[in-house]
Amino acid sequence: DQPLREIADERDVRIGAALAPGSLRSDPSYWKRAKDEFNAITPENALKMGPLRPSPKTYDFTDADAIVNFGAAHDKYVRGHTLVWHNQKPDWFEAWEHTDDQIRTFLRDHIHTVAGRYRAKIDAWDVVNEAIADDGSLRETVWSEALGEEYLDLAFEWASEATDADLYYNDYGADAINEKSDAIYDLLEGMLDRGIPVDGVGLQLHALGDHPDPESIGENIERFRELGLDVQITEMDVAFHRGEVPDDPLEVQADYYRDVFEACLDAGCETIVTWGVADASTWLRGFADFPERYTGDPLLFDERYDPKPAYDAVRAVL
Ligand code: XIL
Repeated sequence: DQPLREIADERDVRIGAALAPGSLRSDPSYWKRAKDEFNAITPENALKMGPLRPSPKTYDFTDADAIVNFGAAHDKYVRGHTLVWHNQKPDWFEAWEHTDDQIRTFLRDHIHTVAGRYRAKIDAWDVVNEAIADDGSLRETVWSEALGEEYLDLAFEWASEATDADLYYNDYGADAINEKSDAIYDLLEGMLDRGIPVDGVGLQLHALGDHPDPESIGENIERFRELGLDVQITEMDVAFHRGEVPDDPLEVQADYYRDVFEACLDAGCETIVTWGVADASTWLRGFADFPERYTGDPLLFDERYDPKPAYDAVRAVL
């Protein structure tokens, strides 16, 4: 059978996976699936500020390089995730006594250094991740406190100084039309009006216990595209609340994947990244209380790296 990646290449669309450096180095089945089945990748954690910044003045690019170079070696579209986020900051950050001006300099240097290092290798950056709260207001973070709401404009401008990659705003819970995606729409419309170099919006689409609404997702994608923005699904996975698992979970999961892919492609969203390669190492099995809350098999390949019904469903719509 033709691998998914080849089908995607022929159709000129991208199907991606988030990658972890440990698995890539030590697990040949993981490596092979990552290589053969996906034409897009993103580091799951390695490009976040925490992993990259052992101390205020130093960088450790070992893991990020491993993943980005894997992408370059196998001719993949590489998404960079993420330059500015309130989570997964370095451990030393809390205790660091800083002025607002020092935060500004720190963030600018971080963006210039990281985006600049991968100028030729990273195709798209999630410049800012999760800046909007669930009620649609601007999330209060260390960045907004120090720099005001202008920090988003600054982050995109600094990124555009260092890279030619396409620049995305990325968030969760904004896949369909709702209060949060309305707020993101207004935010990005305002940025475009001000001439800020934003190229697209990333919709994470962690369908954890929620039934995705493909029609609303399609309409949402269309409205962002009408603003002139590219739209990508950046972190898709599908799980169920424990206690609300359907009788045939793998079939229902396959339906969700198919419906979302179809709605997305129809609306002109041509890049869909899944949040991992296989169920064996999904974040749902390790993150916070997620293992108790959700089923731990959200991806296209199972524990043993065999394709699931969701894989066949995705192949069929590409
Ligand atoms: C998650 C990773 O998958 C985990 O390994 C890590 O412990 C926490 O972060 N939204 C995002 C991603 O933008 O960066 C998150 O990734 C999942 C939710």
